Amino acid sequence: MDDKELVQLAIAARENAHVPYSHFAVGAALLTGDGTVYQGCNIENAAYTPSNCAERTAFFKAVFDGVRDFRAIAVVGGPEGKPISEWCAPCGVCRQVMREFCDPDSFRIILARSEDEMKPYLLRDLLPMGFGPEDLDKPAPAQAAQ
Ligand code: THU
Repeated sequence: MDDKELVQLAIAARENAHVPYSHFAVGAALLTGDGTVYQGCNIENAAYTPSNCAERTAFFKAVFDGVRDFRAIAVVGGPEGKPISEWCAPCGVCRQVMREFCDPDSFRIILARSEDEMKPYLLRDLLPMGFGPEDLDKPAPAQAAQ
């Protein structure tokens, strides 16, 4: 699974977004250690606050399945019904969820504005000095599972 394939799966996931309020559709594709990919889309709600971002949809699907080993996530977003054309970076809440389950020094966040234009980051670049499980003297979930 290369980065371009992961971006293509994020673009496909975006088609499932439920965005009647923002009309901003986001897709994500989360690569696990064994090569499995979990896709996610944003899912909005009439009460607004229960809305869930694409990245967290992908993470929560994987965590429910017992997965704790994550390598990379591709994220794409833009106005519903149009092809993506701008970068869409994860919100702060999603970065914090990534921090719960991922190594900041190796987990990659791949932003894309087409399937051929990508910007790869490390989690540590997008969430510097993050607060994580180790700060509560807990092993990070990936280590705890080993
Ligand atoms: N959104 C995501 O799903 N992921 C991001 O990276 C940024 C924002 C969603 C939340 C909301 O449904 C819509 O995009 C507009 O903020």
